[in-house]
Amino acid sequence: MKAIILAGGSGTRLYPVTQAINKHFLPIYNKPMIYYPLSLAMLLNIKDIVLVINPEDEEVFKKIFKDGSMLGINISYVIQDHPNGLAEGIILSKDYIDGPFMYLLGDNILYGHNVWQVLEEAKEDIIKNGGAYVFGYAVKDPHRFGIVEFDEKNNVLSIEEKPKNPKSHFAAIGIYFFDEKAIDIASNTKPSHRGELEITSLLEEYLKTKKLKVKLLGRGYAWFDAGTHDSFLEAGEFVATIEKRTGLMIGCLEEIAYKNGWISKEELIKIAKKLSKTDYGKYLMEEVVNAF
Ligand code: TTP
Repeated sequence: MKAIILAGGSGTRLYPVTQAINKHFLPIYNKPMIYYPLSLAMLLNIKDIVLVINPEDEEVFKKIFKDGSMLGINISYVIQDHPNGLAEGIILSKDYIDGPFMYLLGDNILYGHNVWQVLEEAKEDIIKNGGAYVFGYAVKDPHRFGIVEFDEKNNVLSIEEKPKNPKSHFAAIGIYFFDEKAIDIASNTKPSHRGELEITSLLEEYLKTKKLKVKLLGRGYAWFDAGTHDSFLEAGEFVATIEKRTGLMIGCLEEIAYKNGWISKEELIKIAKKLSKTDYGKYLMEEVVNAF
């Protein structure tokens, strides 16, 4: 399976910070925002990654990740000329899609004990049965999110963007699985009144054919859409708190690559030595190299 990560967009909610810099490079505590969604795909054993990016950011993304081989993964880049909406990333990535795929928003951060298991179950189901998956997360202010209503078998009954009268308090977070039909469906989707190809329109098409499912993330998870100043800060504080208390890192790509057997101990040591003046490098050396 491949993962497509949306890392373009205009980031207007983080202005003036993002007037000149793409938000996905901004640090959530001690690592760039883009590390977090990428780490989730890697935790699911997905090695083929497509990054959808703005043209002006290509050089910087390639400076950070190159072709991904230093992490034992394959990274391809797809340029989105204008931020035409979340569903457009699927159309632009069509040459890379050869089956069901994971779709992640580059500013979403999800953390919790064995969270990969919940995602893995959805992944396996999509591979076997097709369709699409969303993940529901309880929120206090449902009118601000895409809200998913579902029955006792977790079949989705409705999905509504920023509803005035929310039918549940579960928001659909920025992580999805789709079968390859999503390419045609997204291609036939009409832009919304704000001129964007909305992910909700795509999900509604799956809903019409009863092919949209939801998995709920219970109380033990933390989810942030780090696209506003407040949630950006909260996400950073959360990561800092957990990491300082446990001594374990969230979203450490080299650690996941090494534990997945994608890079050797020698390769890991080389990366750790380069970063030896930082806590990140020390962590790689002391907690990962020496522990495994
Ligand atoms: P949003 O946060 O919905 O949009 P944005 O990043 O443009 O920010 P703002 O609303 O503040 O202007 O996007 C969610 C994620 O998807 C984010 O990681 C950026 C990415 N994205 C794209 O890659 N292409 C797009 O066309 C859009 C709209 C978003």
